Amino acid sequence: MQYINDSLAGKKILITGGAGFIGSNLALYFQKYHQAKVVVFDSFRSEKTFSNGHFKSLGHFKNLLDFKGEVIVGDITKKEDLARLESYGFDYIFHQAAISDTTVMDQEAVLRANVNAFKDLLDLSVRTNAVMIYASSAGVYGNSPAPNSIGSGEIPENVYGFSKLMMDNLMQKYLACYPNLTIVGLRYFNVYGEKEVYKGKTASMILQLGLQALSSKKVRLFKMGEQKRDFVYIEDVIQANVKAMESKKSGVYNVGSGMARSYNAIVECLKTDLGDFAVEYIDNPYSFFQEHTEANIVLTKEFLGYTPRFSLEVGIKKYLGEIKAIHASGLWDEVVTL
Ligand SMILES: NC(=O)c1ccc[n+]([C@@H]2O[C@H](COP(=O)([O-])OP(=O)(O)OC[C@H]3O[C@@H](n4cnc5c(N)ncnc54)[C@H](O)[C@@H]3O)[C@@H](O)[C@H]2O)c1
Repeated sequence: MQYINDSLAGKKILITGGAGFIGSNLALYFQKYHQAKVVVFDSFRSEKTFSNGHFKSLGHFKNLLDFKGEVIVGDITKKEDLARLESYGFDYIFHQAAISDTTVMDQEAVLRANVNAFKDLLDLSVRTNAVMIYASSAGVYGNSPAPNSIGSGEIPENVYGFSKLMMDNLMQKYLACYPNLTIVGLRYFNVYGEKEVYKGKTASMILQLGLQALSSKKVRLFKMGEQKRDFVYIEDVIQANVKAMESKKSGVYNVGSGMARSYNAIVECLKTDLGDFAVEYIDNPYSFFQEHTEANIVLTKEFLGYTPRFSLEVGIKKYLGEIKAIHASGLWDEVVTL
């Protein structure tokens, strides 16, 4: 579905992290519905891993097989790589590149990639007067009580959430210095949907539970599965990004479905299509585990014109075709054992 009327003919769009889950969906959205020139900038997957065994960057060329725009391989933490972007004169920057893995404990690496690089990209947007739309996160709310609203309970519990809060603070400083610049931060909640498979173990619980159900007719949940999250389908996240291009007001906005749903509810949605399967409830080994997140989206509706279109039921139903194909191809085992 096309979210804004502007054809964007003659416009230049940069998508950092464009080989990742959300970035690649965004790149293919613009290719399908608009005439802008789209450039993807991403470090792509290398063999480098963090101490938790996960890949340092999760972008994958297969997310971009249908992409006809330009691809630049580069690292946002390297000034010489960012220098490649200087001559384009971008009109819009969608900044998705980040260490997106919330379990990475290397504070230096997370803050360098997520905060320092954002400052360099903000400077680029100042120089070319580009609209900057960047990915923040519900991680900024830590374990604060839901519903989560902009400006309250911003107490991150890990360095990832802290890095996103620092990005949001930096954005406010730039807005104070450059009031004519448009900068929109989007605090995504739990995003799920097509093209997330290459995130492996950091992919959504919807993908992971769907694959467990398909392969072993049993899923495992932390007791008693009633922890609630705001799960938001990828198409709604794309909608928020695209509508942010015509935002009535710079600032930071929550992007969720606006409804908290439990892990048990995911199981019920999966059973509707896959038939019955067993649920094993296991002890939760994590002392810190969010019990309840829910995006307050009043401001997102008012200033971005955002209206989520996918309930958990409808989102999962739409996504199940890809989940079944991933299962049938054996791709998941390949991704997680690499
Ligand atoms: N998926 C979610 O549920 C969710 C929730 C909240 C926030 N976010 C944020 O949304 C953005 C996109 O997330 P995603 O789910 O698509 O994750 P992703 O890991 O699939 O995408 C991130 C992309 O950035 C690239 N990248 C990482 N480090 C880089 C570097 N130094 N230089 C260049 N490219 C680099 C990766 O290769 C990858 O393609 C991230 O900023 C993430 O923190 C995602």
